[in-house]
Amino acid sequence: MTAALIVAAGSGERLGAGVPKALVKVAGRTLLQWSIDAIAAVPGIERIVVALPPGALAAAPDGVLAVEGGAVRSESVRRALAASGQGDPVLVHDAARPLLTAELARSVLAALAGDESVDAAVAAAPVSDTVKQVRPGSDVVTATLDRGGLWAVQTPQVFRRDALERALAAPQEVLAQATDDAWLVERVGGKVIVVPASEENIKVTTPLDLELAELLLTRRRRGVAAAGAANPA
Ligand code: CTP
Ligand code: MG
Repeated sequence: MTAALIVAAGSGERLGAGVPKALVKVAGRTLLQWSIDAIAAVPGIERIVVALPPGALAAAPDGVLAVEGGAVRSESVRRALAASGQGDPVLVHDAARPLLTAELARSVLAALAGDESVDAAVAAAPVSDTVKQVRPGSDVVTATLDRGGLWAVQTPQVFRRDALERALAAPQEVLAQATDDAWLVERVGGKVIVVPASEENIKVTTPLDLELAELLLTRRRRGVAAAGAANPA
């Protein structure tokens, strides 16, 4: 059975909404609720643990186990993992990605289940921009990266429990540097694979991202409503 962790304990400084980002409403639900609803529709999920900002625990939605998050993202993952029981594998998702679908979560879980040598499988999309390296502190281009090998990594990320536990046992300063959990697995020699995902699974960071999420989720909700009208139960 799978344990699902949703990290929602960030403050959302770059969004600047005045409330924690996960609690901001888009297309009628909070960012957090969109992710919960997608994950709840995945077969084999035994528990959903949500890391929330201290002070927001009372805002925890029904049906999830809420824990207080940490000062950095990886610390929030570590706390949620500790509260998650024995579920294996462990799916980790950012509440900042409300466009998650149950279908994407299933395909990432299936990729891990399909290969015993793999420690982690991560949703990702091929990079479509040309990416250049610039010397730090200057405007001078030093390299153009081969786009063919570049993937923009998203969540969900799915881990074998022992691999994630080992990865998160890293020192505090390493945890503070991590922008995703798969990197922590890579740095202790684990094998990580990418699973193709839609670019539509955007991360809400800025007000522009929120506008885009509103548009995409409103379209999705209308699509579901239209399908329901066409096939009355
Ligand atoms: N997160 C968390 N605990 C933290 C920091 C981040 O659980 N201490 C979560 C966020 O809630 C989010 C995800 O990690 O779902 C990705 O982080 P990010 O997009 O950076 O969100 P915020 O940290 O909230 O935003 P900002 O950096 O703009 O403050
Ligand atoms: Mg942040």
